[in-house]
Amino acid sequence: MSSLDIDFVRAQFPAFSEPSLKGQAFFENAGGSYTCKPVIDRLTRFYTQRKVQPYAPYEASRLAGAEMDEARARMAAILGVETDELSFGPSTTQNTYVLAQAFRQWMKPGEAIVVTNQDHEANSGPWRRLAEAGIEVREWQIDPETGSLNPQDLENMLDEKVRLVCFPHCSNVVGEINPVTEITAIAHAAGAFVCVDGVSYAPHGFPNVGDLGPDIYLFSAYKTYGPHQGCMVIRRTLGELLPNQAHYFNADVLYKRFTPAGPDHAQIAASAGMADYVELLCTHHGGPDAGAAEQGAFAHDLMRAHEVSLLQPVLDAVKDRNAVRLIGTSDATRRAPTVALSLNRPAESVAAELAQYGVMAGGGDFYAVRPLQAMGVDPAQGVLRVSFTHYTSQQEIDQLLEALERVL
Ligand SMILES: Cc1ncc(COP(=O)(O)O)c(C=O)c1O
Repeated sequence: MSSLDIDFVRAQFPAFSEPSLKGQAFFENAGGSYTCKPVIDRLTRFYTQRKVQPYAPYEASRLAGAEMDEARARMAAILGVETDELSFGPSTTQNTYVLAQAFRQWMKPGEAIVVTNQDHEANSGPWRRLAEAGIEVREWQIDPETGSLNPQDLENMLDEKVRLVCFPHCSNVVGEINPVTEITAIAHAAGAFVCVDGVSYAPHGFPNVGDLGPDIYLFSAYKTYGPHQGCMVIRRTLGELLPNQAHYFNADVLYKRFTPAGPDHAQIAASAGMADYVELLCTHHGGPDAGAAEQGAFAHDLMRAHEVSLLQPVLDAVKDRNAVRLIGTSDATRRAPTVALSLNRPAESVAAELAQYGVMAGGGDFYAVRPLQAMGVDPAQGVLRVSFTHYTSQQEIDQLLEALERVL
């Protein structure tokens, strides 16, 4: 496989040629990525040429609707699922909220769900509230030292009462990549459905959700180089089983059933730009010239290889420092480049110091209050989080390491 052409990649992101951002190394990508040019171009075109009610018979409207359909079809193909198994909502938090209402109606008191204390609150709180409806909530707990989830522990918690297991593909503070296929197989064997929060994983390469196996897979397009949308895969069997949450006359359309909010036409249409970007990466690097899932897999591996090679030196630089606790594994091959550090002072003030060296990073709890508490980190003090993606350059990593050296 060819290695990532970083100059080509950065040329696809207008932020890298924006004068006001010159010299600023971006390390808060887990909060939201830069947007790729195909997405910005589509958004601009939609707002200037197609900003009308879509799916009507006049030309501007026809084009608007067709572009929204294109986005769903092409992204679903990359994700390895059917077109109507992908829907777009306002955000992942909103999507899990709606899903939790559907499960609340479908489940009976006395039945159970499993949540983790590794998740971002978006894939935790809405599910835990099902306790108010008499549903038993079981917590699959992380190891307080490593932050890891052990699939064996899950296996021991399952019985015929459990209907759903919720967990992250990768936590936004622990960073370790969970074995989704293995965990899904354990849950399915016990007769439970699976809901995976892929928000912290998908920016590092779209996964083939069909191959991975979960019944629900969620991610946020504003972290995968796209517009501010929550993308939600719901496999057909589950989607048809759960009660419809949309207008009653939309109940027959799978991709509408769990998105009661009116769709954001322009942002859904612009989501096709994420598929354009995958295609561009593929073509430029000599990847497969057909098959969206194959192209997605190629782009995924290209991104991952670049990220892993940049990440290991960062982990090595922080893992044995006094007064610094690296959250999660120090093996780059097992984690995303989302690196949280617990320090002996408030993380936000350290992020402010990094800003003086042109490093854009954040400090706080990142809505991962439960995992931080479980690992003995005071959420009020928070963690310093430096997170990057495939478009990050060696030069920016050097800038980060130098800044960390001064600040830590
Ligand atoms: C792991 C994870 N899950 C869920 C969310 C929530 O996503 P959204 O902002 O789309 O609601 C975030 C946001 O930071 C996240 O990092």
